[in-house]
Amino acid sequence: MSEPYTILVVDDEKVIRDGCALILQPEGYQVATAANGQEALEILRTEPINLVLCDLKMPVMGALEVLEVAGTHYPEVPIIIITGHGTVANAVECMQKGAYDFVTKPFRVDHLTLVVKRVLEKQKLERQARELREEQARNLYTLASEQSRLHTIINCMADGVLVTNRDLEVVLCNPALMRLLELSTPPPQPGPLSFYLDDTSLKEAIYTLLTAPEQDNITYISQELRKGRAYLRALSAPFYGPDLQLLGVVTVFHDITGFKELDEMKNEFVQMVSHELRAPLSAIKMQHTVILDGLAGDLTEKQRELLVRAHAKIQGLLDLINELLNVARMEAGYCQLEQVPLSLGGVLTDLVELLQTKAANQKIVLQLITPPDLPLIQADRRSMEEVFMNLLCNAINYSPNGGNVKISAVSHSEYLEVLVSDTGVGLEPEEIPKIFDKFYRAKHPQTRQVIGTGLGLAIVKNLIEAHRGSIQVESQPGVGTTFRVLLPTVSSGQGSDFVRS
Ligand SMILES: Nc1ncnc2c1ncn2[C@@H]1O[C@H](COP(=O)(O)OP(=O)(O)OP(=O)(O)O)[C@@H](O)[C@H]1O
Ligand SMILES: [Mg+2]
Repeated sequence: MSEPYTILVVDDEKVIRDGCALILQPEGYQVATAANGQEALEILRTEPINLVLCDLKMPVMGALEVLEVAGTHYPEVPIIIITGHGTVANAVECMQKGAYDFVTKPFRVDHLTLVVKRVLEKQKLERQARELREEQARNLYTLASEQSRLHTIINCMADGVLVTNRDLEVVLCNPALMRLLELSTPPPQPGPLSFYLDDTSLKEAIYTLLTAPEQDNITYISQELRKGRAYLRALSAPFYGPDLQLLGVVTVFHDITGFKELDEMKNEFVQMVSHELRAPLSAIKMQHTVILDGLAGDLTEKQRELLVRAHAKIQGLLDLINELLNVARMEAGYCQLEQVPLSLGGVLTDLVELLQTKAANQKIVLQLITPPDLPLIQADRRSMEEVFMNLLCNAINYSPNGGNVKISAVSHSEYLEVLVSDTGVGLEPEEIPKIFDKFYRAKHPQTRQVIGTGLGLAIVKNLIEAHRGSIQVESQPGVGTTFRVLLPTVSSGQGSDFVRS
């Protein structure tokens, strides 16, 4: 027996008390005894008792009174009445008053143990059922309060929330989203997505999340959407039931109109300042050239040396200004690209040759791996030079301890894949999404001395996207970084001279 049950035997006859103890103790029960009802109540008050065997008639206090008091104060303790044959009718009355069972005197050993066992077993089952009921009530309460908390959070959020089921129907939309979408009355739920937004790209993103094969492992899709004059950042992610079955998609909308306006103002400002600086700087550069060419008289060695250094600095500033203007132009939506059928292999060979000295100075082995029969891409030569020059310079610059930098190109059916990989310092996972932002530079103690503006990758991304290509990055801190560029080949891409990026 796992639990040591204590049974209280209440009888005015000592022989019965002792007899019961003799029967019950070998069965593993602890036995307490009382000679009348009053003693029994006292023991019940002070000791943990699991069951009472109580004689019906006793001097001082009989079973009926014990039942009355115990029923009120110890309802969980079952009471079995011990009765003689002549008083069975009274025992039945006791049962009506709450006794669990009765045994008649003289009782058989096995009969008594059986009744006791049965009652204790029943009591145990009742206790378990009660605990289960309590647990269920607690769970229901927790669930209800969890639901109400979630409901409150979703309703009070400043960001819009939209929940779509597997049939692409909207099943939840919070007040913030109604405000963002300027909806005055809530559309029916479930209702079609088009009631909320007529942007097809959101529908496509949700559809992709609902239908993407598991191995694609798409955890979320982030998009920028327009609603009237507002810009919204929409982040969609799938959600699953307890059995990991896909239930639908949750999309959170964040209003980024303010940031966009600020960004536009900043761009205009940078563009204006760059413009204003370029003219006087170009004039200074020209005057330097005149002096350096000796047209303003002879120079001493020292003067020449200082002017050459100043000249280089001015050139650096002009390069930066040109880059800033380039980015601004691309972001304004227009860039002039002369897209022609281009052999990328030739461009890459020239670049690698040009950069061999820089790589060697940093003890880096720079390698180009391309098959001879790479298909042509429809691209602007200068843009491609700029893209891969930036990527290769980065790979070399951010490999301070030497190592390998490799650029390889392979052809897939409709596009060319170019990988630029290095064994350099790598990037922390949280830095990866930011490196294409303008002016973002990751901080690494080993590459602090690298001079740069943080514009290179922003330009690279803009140029690749203007060619209808894509760029991705994989990196591990301390191991290295690989940039993967995909560019459509001539057969798949229809080039145009004027491209909206
Ligand atoms: N191959 C790479 N390995 C590790 N970090 C890199 C790599 N390429 C880029 N980064 C990180 O991304 C940041 C942004 O790169 P990006 O080329 O835009 O700017 P930059 O190199 O700092 O300056 P510049 O505009 O002169 O190129 C870098 O500062 C660097 O921290
Ligand atoms: Mg760079």
